[in-house]
Amino acid sequence: MINLAHSPTDKITFRGRDYFLKRDDLLAPAFSGNKARKFYYLLDGEFPGIKKIIGHGSPQANSLYTLSELAKLKNWQFDFYVDHVPSFLNKHPAGNYRAALANGANIIALKTGPLKREKYCGGVGEYIQQVILPEERESIFVPEGGRVAWAELGVKRLAEEILLWSQKNKIRSLKIALPSGTGTTAVFLQKHLPFEVLTCACVGGEEYLKKQFMELSTDQSTYPTILSARKKYHFGKLYDEYFTLWKALKTEVGVEFDLLYDPLGWLTLLDHVARSKSDEWEILYIHQGGLLGNETMLPRYLRVSKQSRVIQPRFLT
Ligand SMILES: Cc1ncc(COP(=O)(O)O)c(C=O)c1O
Repeated sequence: MINLAHSPTDKITFRGRDYFLKRDDLLAPAFSGNKARKFYYLLDGEFPGIKKIIGHGSPQANSLYTLSELAKLKNWQFDFYVDHVPSFLNKHPAGNYRAALANGANIIALKTGPLKREKYCGGVGEYIQQVILPEERESIFVPEGGRVAWAELGVKRLAEEILLWSQKNKIRSLKIALPSGTGTTAVFLQKHLPFEVLTCACVGGEEYLKKQFMELSTDQSTYPTILSARKKYHFGKLYDEYFTLWKALKTEVGVEFDLLYDPLGWLTLLDHVARSKSDEWEILYIHQGGLLGNETMLPRYLRVSKQSRVIQPRFLT
């Protein structure tokens, strides 16, 4: 039986302040973090007649691995379209890519793979919609990162869990914090919670994130507050301040976070806390899971960092 709900909430202290931490990383290993929530609809539902699931995104995406587990569980084929697979990853499969391949995922590189497609001109999602889906009637299509209306079902359940927990613990003044990629988790949480949701734009900048909110909801009252970063951070690049914070969270709090989204989530949150009267409210940070991605990110950091030899990654211990 897969545990897809009721993750525990810990109380932690970091940089002199108490936080609550929603441990969605402790849900089922293959369906942890926001994937458990966004893909709940697929995991829980019955889909007679469906034979295949089709997704797309980066070959290192957390969704690639989670969808491969889902396909295995449901006995579906799984096609995952990518623009290309970096040659290093191709030669040395690791992290989500390795685990998805082991689960039998059919990872199709449109630009470089053997099935190089004539009509492909750079937009993987559009290519799938226009060329692939008309031929694949017995399939379910999952847009990149799970940015899709049915993701609301599982995120609403997360909101209900949080609400119940806050009532039980008599917490009236609460802010919810989490980093955003597509913004799907944050926008649906804001829609179903009476508390302010604080987020940050990890992938494409604040304007991009606002556009994502608009595509998911026309009601502006469901848009979370976007906390700005002090400088422009590029998704997937390595930053000293990210790694320092990640290590501090691991050693001082004893919790491993992902290295792509959570460092910016915490950086912007700590800045916000320092700037505002934050002692007037409690903060609940939602762990987003995605730790398998650290298997490719951490070696990159270790290669460039002199002081990081002491860090024991979860997957090596
Ligand atoms: C670890 C992790 N954190 C945060 C996010 C961002 O979630 P969303 O796309 O719902 O904003 C993702 C992407 O799904 C993720 O894998």
